[in-house]
Amino acid sequence: MEEQHSEPVTLTTERLVLRAPRESDIDAVFAACQDPEIQRWTIVPSPYRREDAEFFVRDLAIEGWRTGANRIWCVFERESGALVGSQGLVLRDNDPGCAEIGWWAVKEFRGRGYTTEAARAVSHYGLRELGLRRLEWVAYVGNGGSRAVAEKSGYRMEGTLRSFAEQRGVFHDAWLGSLLASDLD
Ligand SMILES: CC(C)(COP(=O)(O)OP(=O)(O)OC[C@H]1O[C@@H](n2cnc3c(N)ncnc32)[C@H](O)[C@@H]1OP(=O)(O)O)[C@@H](O)C(=O)NCCC(=O)NCCS
Repeated sequence: MEEQHSEPVTLTTERLVLRAPRESDIDAVFAACQDPEIQRWTIVPSPYRREDAEFFVRDLAIEGWRTGANRIWCVFERESGALVGSQGLVLRDNDPGCAEIGWWAVKEFRGRGYTTEAARAVSHYGLRELGLRRLEWVAYVGNGGSRAVAEKSGYRMEGTLRSFAEQRGVFHDAWLGSLLASDLD
């Protein structure tokens, strides 16, 4: 199959700017990912070392954008320029019309609706700019915060998948939700 190439895309919302991670973001990403909640509910390494933030910025995001298979954004508050979270869209290997959305928020900036605002922008980008048919949200059962963001962003819950989502070698039961291009019409 011919390799896809894509340029990083910046998205702007009322209060936020979402752009590809840069070298200068490494310290803030490293600090944010020390949070036990991020380590508990996502696949970031645990413990989270500075090299993990370097890998995120220099390898994962660069390669992800180059191939288009894993588009990663750092999310910033426009007013202060502070890092408030991250968003990602990973294309499904077996279905070019489908991607999985993911996110985390910097602890100090939670509860302001930022993750929902960013998730809406990323979802719109995926369905409208990339022309995807279906976006999936997957979270380990019990992650009520992420589920609230997904529901507020328009994702419809589809059910619970048993022993589905791998985290550091352990499989968890997971909630699955989706947003379709046709849901936006
Ligand atoms: C889940 C997470 C991203 C939420 O981020 P956030 O910036 O606080 O989300 P928002 O401010 O956009 O919240 C949206 C809604 O979710 C609700 N919410 C947030 N955390 C919640 C929780 N733990 N339980 C229930 N509802 C929650 C908020 O109250 C808000 O609803 P409201 O507008 O009616 O008050 C954040 O807690 C986080 O980073 N968790 C750890 C990493 C993670 O779980 N990532 C997702 C993996 S699938």
